[in-house]
Amino acid sequence: MPTSLAQIDAYLADNSDRFLDELKSFLRIPSVSADSRHKGDVRRAAEFVMAQFRSCGLEAELVETAGHPICYGHWLKAPGAPTVLIYGHYDVQPPDPLDKWLTSPFEPTVRDGCLFARGATDDKGQVFTHIKSIETWIKTAGSLPVNVKFVIEGEEEVGSNNLDMFLEANKSRLAADVAVISDTSQFAPDLPAITYGLRGIVACEVTVRGPNQDKHSGVFGGAIVNPVNALARIIAGLHDEKGRVTVPGFYDDIPPLSAEERQRLAALPFDEAGFLKELGMDACWGEAGFTTLERRWARPTCDVNGITGGYQGEGPKTIIPSWATAKITCRLVPNQNHEKIAAGLEQRLRELCLPGAQLEFRTWHGCPAFVFDPTSRYMAAAKKAIASAFGVAPVMIREGGSIPVVASFQSLLGLDTLLLGWGQNTDNLHGPNEHFHLADFRNGTRASAHLWHELAVLA
Ligand code: BES
Ligand code: MN
Ligand code: MN
Repeated sequence: MPTSLAQIDAYLADNSDRFLDELKSFLRIPSVSADSRHKGDVRRAAEFVMAQFRSCGLEAELVETAGHPICYGHWLKAPGAPTVLIYGHYDVQPPDPLDKWLTSPFEPTVRDGCLFARGATDDKGQVFTHIKSIETWIKTAGSLPVNVKFVIEGEEEVGSNNLDMFLEANKSRLAADVAVISDTSQFAPDLPAITYGLRGIVACEVTVRGPNQDKHSGVFGGAIVNPVNALARIIAGLHDEKGRVTVPGFYDDIPPLSAEERQRLAALPFDEAGFLKELGMDACWGEAGFTTLERRWARPTCDVNGITGGYQGEGPKTIIPSWATAKITCRLVPNQNHEKIAAGLEQRLRELCLPGAQLEFRTWHGCPAFVFDPTSRYMAAAKKAIASAFGVAPVMIREGGSIPVVASFQSLLGLDTLLLGWGQNTDNLHGPNEHFHLADFRNGTRASAHLWHELAVLA
């Protein structure tokens, strides 16, 4: 007798406490990819994923890279059925600022219907929904309605620099009909979404050097360039008074937003007052001529992520600092080339630099933006699965974050991706007190389980 979705749902309900306990074990591992002191922990998280694959009945291989390992696993016993490539990441952002967490970032704690921990929503909790939905099918039905391949990597939060090489070397092994990623957000509480576009990114660092060491600002001040002053002036010169980025060529390759796209975004029930309230702010600011959703999802930006230089300790100190550094990221929209933008940015920084200051520039990583057809048949299958699990039909959205693998899946494997985010924008991803709503964890796992069915009946 074929397994019904009711039996699938029953297994999910009966095992939800255990799923939560196992997710907590995953979240206890501080797999901070950016911090070399956590290298061993990052590997332990990969091994945790491998053990999960094996206990679900997948064949699995831990693939070494020049950086952190990639977890590959597959179940390919549904001949004739579609093949789905599921991607996620087991690495997490650094937990800083530690003193702002109400409970420790690597001691997962349930409070107010949410599970608090670094990685709870980005992306361990979301990855876990797919692992558990696969387990559910295999334990309930003894099989899956589709073939699945998992790629769960450990370097997403640092730019996925070693992933393309793996994709390139394993094109036929990774062949699939569609990719699925849960690493984005719903549109609002009780309003799930399918994301059909993300922005790209280019991440750079600029250092301005002045005197060969910190110097007395009374003795030398006024006669030589101050690197911190110079860097502030450079940064101020990156935008004009209309909020447009002054990097040469920045907007050259961007096609205008279509009237249809603008209408689609304008039709979403966006609560701008609530958005500001959540941020503790009283006004939006950005590029003139665009709405808040357009600015967040469909227009490029240039932002300083951090700036250092000079005396940071207590009390006054009178020096001309020796150097100043800023970390800068540009968010990109389709058709912008991240290498070209980085070159334009470097040119603009140099133009704005003052005499006597030496400017050093480097890029960390970059990836292009993309937009998929929101009306594809895979999108339709995902809509059904989400509507049945969440009880509400999803809206179609774009988002402003970046997931490098999606463009690589498209260019290297010819694959479109379904971005099915179970998180919320208010889950504090990358910040203190990151959390995942237990209801989103449950509904996301159920939507995932239903998706395998919906994709199979499409074929
Ligand atoms: N999961 C996020 C991306 C995201 C978050 C997309 C929310 C849409 C909504 C991902 O882990 C991430 O943080 N990506 C980085 C990019 C990376 C190259 C460092 C980002 O967007 O800053
Ligand atoms: Mn993520
Ligand atoms: Mn992230």
